[in-house]
Amino acid sequence: MGRRLRVLIADDSAPTRESLRRLLEFHQDIEVVGEAADGEEAVNQARLLEPDVILMDINMKPVDGITATEVITTELPRSVIVMMSVQGEQEYLRQAMAAGARDYLTKPFGTDELINTIHNAYEREARRWLQVVPGPGFPEHQGKVITVFSAKGGVGKTTIATNLAALISHELQKTVAIVDLDLQFGDVSVLLDFEPRRTIIDLVAAGEWGPEEVRGCLHQYSPKLKVLAAPARPEEAELVTGSHIKQLIESLRPLADFIIIDTAQNFQEPVLAALDESDEIAIIATLDIPTVKNVRLCLDVMQGVLEYPVDKTKLVVNRDAEDIGIKAAFLEEKLGISICARIPSDGRLAVQAANTGLPFVLSSPRAPISQGIRELARQITSGEELPAASGKGPSNRSFIGRMFHRLRA
Ligand SMILES: Nc1ncnc2c1ncn2[C@@H]1O[C@H](COP(=O)(O)OP(=O)(O)OP(=O)(O)O)[C@@H](O)[C@H]1O
Ligand SMILES: [Mg+2]
Repeated sequence: MGRRLRVLIADDSAPTRESLRRLLEFHQDIEVVGEAADGEEAVNQARLLEPDVILMDINMKPVDGITATEVITTELPRSVIVMMSVQGEQEYLRQAMAAGARDYLTKPFGTDELINTIHNAYEREARRWLQVVPGPGFPEHQGKVITVFSAKGGVGKTTIATNLAALISHELQKTVAIVDLDLQFGDVSVLLDFEPRRTIIDLVAAGEWGPEEVRGCLHQYSPKLKVLAAPARPEEAELVTGSHIKQLIESLRPLADFIIIDTAQNFQEPVLAALDESDEIAIIATLDIPTVKNVRLCLDVMQGVLEYPVDKTKLVVNRDAEDIGIKAAFLEEKLGISICARIPSDGRLAVQAANTGLPFVLSSPRAPISQGIRELARQITSGEELPAASGKGPSNRSFIGRMFHRLRA
């Protein structure tokens, strides 16, 4: 048996949801992954679960199925929507199909009709995707690859990678994919507070690294930000090779404007492959002598052994504090490279962000630590207009909404 079709049921009648669930449970190739009682819940559940098929009632309150269909087809073009209506809702049905629904069922319907419609709608759509990759709803990008690296552990790589990704996707409204390449102890999903349903190991297991497969393993964190999570277990790390990472990056480039890669502090094969494929490498340093020594070694490898062009590496100072540590000018002199961005120290915000799962660039956009990330983003996106930090961007709501949702849950 192939992979089971993952179905979400959205209907405002609990008895209808229950009977649909029971009908579908008899079919081994279908799995009901969730339920929703109105359009808003359907959108939230769809974002979370990324179902293959959504059975969507047309008439729900307060948010109806047509509105939900419009949002879902834009954000999750791979989720196939089958509308459910009653006789006499033809005009609504026309609107729903125009909004992106792929098929419809008129209540009451029988089990065979239900199952056939689900399968046919899904298979038609899957064929369409195979023929056109990339295609509608899957815009062609030429993603810039930025790897966040350091010669020492615990210097703030993951903090910077996640906040940078949140800022670019939120303020610039660019599509961002963040890859957790700390394969043993990756914690991008912890910092963004989600349970990964799929990880990079699903790609290893499938043995396929094309755009289609990669896309299927990305977690949609917010409308413009996707995440490829690290393996669930440290021992799985060794299954990932350098050639996997090369293929992964090749497949990600057309899917996002920016691909941000968080790493562990090593020069092992997967990280080396990421560094090779990167357009830019942000080397994170803190202002202490052991870090200076390690960053020097790191630059020697990158410039001497790997022969990267000088402008491929960008030096970023994290936990910058004027009053303690060595001076930034001393660091620049010792390393022979100028600092591209300085991110101030703010333990309170860094820890609060990690604990709430909301990046500080979104919760506290005006804070100096967020301004430091903004400066780094400006350098990396070279020339893109970053709005001043108002904290009132159009999609701020979705992040804040996520936090409230989390707090309520
Ligand atoms: N600018 C900052 N100011 C204060 N604390 C910070 C700052 N940046 C990061 N931290 C804190 O430093 C700790 C390490 O950060 P983080 O996990 O991002 O580092 P890392 O380089 O990814 O570590 P690892 O090598 O273990 O993956 C965390 O507790 C984080 O909250
Ligand atoms: Mg880390």
